[in-house]
Amino acid sequence: MDQNQKKKAAAEAALAFVQPDTIVGVGTGSTVNFFIDALASKKNDIAGAVSSSDASTQRLKKLGIEVFDLNSVDDLDIYVDGADEITEHKHMIKGGGAALTREKIVAAVAKTFICIIDDTKHVPILGRFPLPVEVIPMARSYVAREIVKLGGDPAYRQGVVTDNGNIILDVHNLEILNPVELENQLNNIVGVVTNGLFADRCADIVLTGTEQGVVKS
Ligand code: A5P
Repeated sequence: MDQNQKKKAAAEAALAFVQPDTIVGVGTGSTVNFFIDALASKKNDIAGAVSSSDASTQRLKKLGIEVFDLNSVDDLDIYVDGADEITEHKHMIKGGGAALTREKIVAAVAKTFICIIDDTKHVPILGRFPLPVEVIPMARSYVAREIVKLGGDPAYRQGVVTDNGNIILDVHNLEILNPVELENQLNNIVGVVTNGLFADRCADIVLTGTEQGVVKS
């Protein structure tokens, strides 16, 4: 089974958590794309979706799934999204696709965060995947200097503008021993919109595609 087949299996397993007549929170990325495709089979049973990116919105709409503005939704049962790295404590790095801020907002509203991944995403310690930080453009150099003081090595993601009109700094060479503390330290730097650590609000359920099938943890 290749990596894409594992992603697809995990994504399809998440369908079991979708309740009739509810609005589903939908993340961003290649694993979520498999989930969106599978969700289309239930489009007449669900009320619709809330999306974390323009890319997911387009895919949902193309498949005939109604997309609601988050401000028009009182609560969300589930949020389904991928991750770039995840630990046994269900702390994650996300944002490889630059959608981290909207992902964090939708995740904050949802009662249950269901993380769908292939088995390459599990790590003992976060940080080998460069940590994305969304930054207001005029604060780029200042934020980069502050990140260096925290021990990181920030790199400007050339040519990328987020759905919110901001830039991304990818922070290399981190060994993240206390993800909750670092998440809050980074968010306290003026000019940072948010960062890709999902530790304060981590995943609730993880569905991992493996050679042996989908493992739930
Ligand atoms: C998007 O910004 C990310 O947070 C994705 O959820 C993450 O990068 C996982 O992406 P894949 O499902 O493509 O591996």
